[in-house]
Amino acid sequence: MFQTRVTEMLGIKYPIIQGGMQWLGVAELAAAVSEAGALGMINAGNFQDPEGFRDELRKAKQLTDKPLGVNVTLMPTIRPVNTSAFVNVLIEEGVKAVETSGRSPEEFLPQFKAAGVKVIHKVPAVRFARHVEHAGVDAVTVVGFECGGHPGMDDVTSLILLPLASQSVTIPVVAGGGFGDARGFVAALSLGAEAVLMGTRFMATEECPAHPSFKHWLIDLSERDTVLLERSIRNTGRFARNQAAETVLKLEDEGASLEELLPHISGLKSRTVLMEGDLDAGVVSCGQVVGLIKEIKPVKQVIEDIVQGARDICERLHLQSLAAAPASRRL
Ligand SMILES: Cc1cc2nc3c(=O)[nH]c(=O)nc-3n(C[C@H](O)[C@H](O)[C@H](O)COP(=O)(O)O)c2cc1C
Repeated sequence: MFQTRVTEMLGIKYPIIQGGMQWLGVAELAAAVSEAGALGMINAGNFQDPEGFRDELRKAKQLTDKPLGVNVTLMPTIRPVNTSAFVNVLIEEGVKAVETSGRSPEEFLPQFKAAGVKVIHKVPAVRFARHVEHAGVDAVTVVGFECGGHPGMDDVTSLILLPLASQSVTIPVVAGGGFGDARGFVAALSLGAEAVLMGTRFMATEECPAHPSFKHWLIDLSERDTVLLERSIRNTGRFARNQAAETVLKLEDEGASLEELLPHISGLKSRTVLMEGDLDAGVVSCGQVVGLIKEIKPVKQVIEDIVQGARDICERLHLQSLAAAPASRRL
């Protein structure tokens, strides 16, 4: 059930992918997602040292023999990162799926192709989806305005982006931004996507390494508790509303420069919020779907609830063909 070109390409049971998550995309979470039949993702960006990254991949491989992915964020960062070294390690360790984001991964595509690594690139707009299809990626994740992380500058929701993207490219489209339950999953398939990608939903899971105080805070947030920051520096991101986010909003309102904003948007401060549960210490990515998340569950239950719930919805709506679509059929 729910077989698509994405499940076929990645060798996974269900068309569900865990999006890369800075600090949280570690072996335990990624392995739990893969073990449950979806694709888990380890963040290369969590590591300064490629050998530390190699250890994490090996740890994950001890926890599951199912396919695992790696997120390689290519956004220009403040600290210098030797991306090639991380790419070499993931290839040496036999990883077969990569999620890239931030900018086009074209410079790495020949290396990935030669190693048989499937590349799913993440974009916030249809024109970028077309561009990376042309560059040669294997699939494209399209994230809408609702998403945690970076929704781009256009403010177009998943409901509009997905049908447009899936009629504009021939490679499989993965739906990201606003997905967290069975209803969204069926909607994404109806809109032309061949998988969903979720970030925020996986933060409220037992296997997510975030501090318990953070997870409990998260499930109390409503759909109105996220804000868009960094728009003034053309790097719009959606974050949970906390003291640090309010400070950044105020600074941006006052015309603060990049240098003035940097101390407030630092990734290390975000780590303190996530891992130490110091809830106002920094800004943390979070999608509007947080308003739908009311329970911290084991990863396996999140995935099973989506798949079983989707079957029930399809039955209720008499969508047997959606549930049983052959892999080659565009939805
Ligand atoms: C805490 C957090 C950290 C994230 N870090 C990254 C990252 O390092 N690289 C990346 O490409 N996307 C990152 N994302 C975006 C997710 O991979 C995914 O695109 C997004 O969460 C999908 O939208 P959703 O939050 O509505 O599920 C992050 C998202 C969250 C919530």
